Amino acid sequence: MTGRSPIIRGLIKLLALTTVVYCLPPQRSHLTEAQLSTLFDSYPPFPALDPNYYSTAKADGNLSAQSASDKIDESNDQVVALLTPLLIPRAPGSHNATIVRDFITGHFNGLSNWTAVIDGFTTSVPEYGGVKGALDFTNLIFRLTPPGSDDVPSRYLTLVAHYDSKLSPVGFIGATDSAVPCAIMMYLAESLTPHILKRWESDLGAIADDTGIQIIFMDGEEALVEWSDQDSLYGARHLAELWESEKKVSQFGRLSTLHDIDLFVLLDLLGAASPAVPCFFEITSWACRDLAETERRIRNAGLAKTNQQKPFIRADNVMTNVFIDDDHRPFLRRGIPVMHVIPIPFPKVWHTLNDDGAHLSSEAVHDWAVFITGWVAGYLGLGDFL
Ligand SMILES: *[C@@H]1O[C@H](CO)[C@@H](O)[C@H](O)[C@H]1NC(C)=O
Ligand SMILES: *[C@@H]1O[C@H](CO)[C@@H](O)[C@H](O)[C@H]1NC(C)=O
Ligand SMILES: *[C@@H]1O[C@H](CO)[C@@H](O)[C@H](O)[C@H]1NC(C)=O
Ligand SMILES: [Zn+2]
Repeated sequence: MTGRSPIIRGLIKLLALTTVVYCLPPQRSHLTEAQLSTLFDSYPPFPALDPNYYSTAKADGNLSAQSASDKIDESNDQVVALLTPLLIPRAPGSHNATIVRDFITGHFNGLSNWTAVIDGFTTSVPEYGGVKGALDFTNLIFRLTPPGSDDVPSRYLTLVAHYDSKLSPVGFIGATDSAVPCAIMMYLAESLTPHILKRWESDLGAIADDTGIQIIFMDGEEALVEWSDQDSLYGARHLAELWESEKKVSQFGRLSTLHDIDLFVLLDLLGAASPAVPCFFEITSWACRDLAETERRIRNAGLAKTNQQKPFIRADNVMTNVFIDDDHRPFLRRGIPVMHVIPIPFPKVWHTLNDDGAHLSSEAVHDWAVFITGWVAGYLGLGDFL
């Protein structure tokens, strides 16, 4: 800031914030069916998210050589596979977990203007296998922040899924739990980045109060031995506590990094056929209804691959009497608004060796990718920037 008096500075800020309202189309809106078609024409989710598609990784995303070198689909290798490289056992602290993290990080390094935060920590765990008492975990956080927001608190639509897989049964892959949600978040980031930047570059200076996007790949969601408050949610418990401790002072009165979260959207157990996902929280039912509306428009526009009587998102009633313990708990109990996107009942393959690529519904994977990406595009106000 220059040497202007606080009153003038305040006025300039007020003008800047007022300008936001008039210059940029609103966030938290819906894309029209035509806009949704344009979005998915330019970058369709398949083949990248097809459970049967293998390809060489980008130069900086050095992974699939390890997992899929024998199954490269030469016909289409300009598209990098996003899902199949994740379909390997990837327990916390394992070599495979490092490989998966390198792949995810390489993907975001290849996208313009994203910044990465690595939250690595060591914490005590129950004894199992060769592990005695302590294990390393790593959460990955990627952010796309409105330019010029240094002086204004950042707000982020925050998408979250865990990338670790369960230790047992041996060989467990966790395709729905949560390789598919992770791959969808990678797809969404890649397909929306140019449009987000276009929105911001259309009116530099007036967007400081815009909502950015933050994507979290959480480690250690699964229990190592047996689910309990101590043996589960290792990454989420650590990150929520860390962000709560990062105090910030601002004229808007935000308290800590935790409060940069506009909405915490947790994706879990997606990719099996015929899911039914309810809304769980009254306070975020607006977001759940918006997601259901995006699904309705996408189906109307003929952009969905599944064709079923009932929608994936059942926004007609809010299931406030059901709580599913998951990575949102440490954030929820600190007052952060959450939308939990998880089906009830769970997929039949849940926590079995059958939760693998072969048992996914590739149509359902595709449709979750377009529903979630289309909804995020509306949330970030991208309709006019496609
Ligand atoms: C890619 O992976 C291979 C095998 O794991 C490794 O030898 C090589 O150094 C890696 N390359 C890069 C650029 O990281
Ligand atoms: C690591 O992933 C490979 C597949 O790429 C798998 O064969 C291997 O069993 C995994 N390692 C562990 C310890 O799970
Ligand atoms: C993206 O990054 C480039 C290069 O650092 C920068 O010039 C541009 O202003 C950034 N765009 C936005 C919208 O932040
Ligand atoms: Zn699980």
